[in-house]
Amino acid sequence: MLLGAAAGLGYLLGSVPFGVLLTRALGLGDLRSIGSGNIGATNVLRTGNKGAALATLLLDGGKGAAAVLLARWLGGEGAALVAGGAAFLGHLYPVWLGFRGGKGVATFLGTVIALAWPLGLGLCAIWLLTAALSRISSLSALVAAASAPVLALAMGQPGLAAVTLFMATLIFLRHHENIARLRAGTEPRIGAGKRRG
Ligand code: G3P
Repeated sequence: MLLGAAAGLGYLLGSVPFGVLLTRALGLGDLRSIGSGNIGATNVLRTGNKGAALATLLLDGGKGAAAVLLARWLGGEGAALVAGGAAFLGHLYPVWLGFRGGKGVATFLGTVIALAWPLGLGLCAIWLLTAALSRISSLSALVAAASAPVLALAMGQPGLAAVTLFMATLIFLRHHENIARLRAGTEPRIGAGKRRG
């Protein structure tokens, strides 16, 4: 499988905005006008529909994992890495939403689970532990993202460390408003409502 084809496959899968599609299908409104305006599971939860939030989490994670597994089957490990990175970019910059997508956390976790499941499950555990202690989704995402390249290096996987460093950097950039609220002590807890923006 050509790496360009892996990138295209990954991007197309990653660009499906499940949060927007599910909330629209359920008559919950336009997710981009609700809460933070983000298209991810945390913001779907602000609609009050826990099932839709869980489905968004699983589908956004699943599309990253599916891109990696499909590309690995068709083209090996190099294609899997490219497809995983492209799926993540597809979620952040979906052509269907004018390239204004989400923050990438669920897709990042699903991608890493499929690339290296011990690291992926470790990152999920870090997210859950931070969330249990803080009740803040963005903080949990930032701690898990920052841990990924460090743990990948400790596992002796420099290629995986490079890909996760790339994704973690974009996750931090995408969370600049969350980081400002965290610093100000105004970031809402999981499940609480939040003003647009
Ligand atoms: O996974 C996204 C989360 O880290 C932050 O989402 O909607 O609180 O900005 P939100």
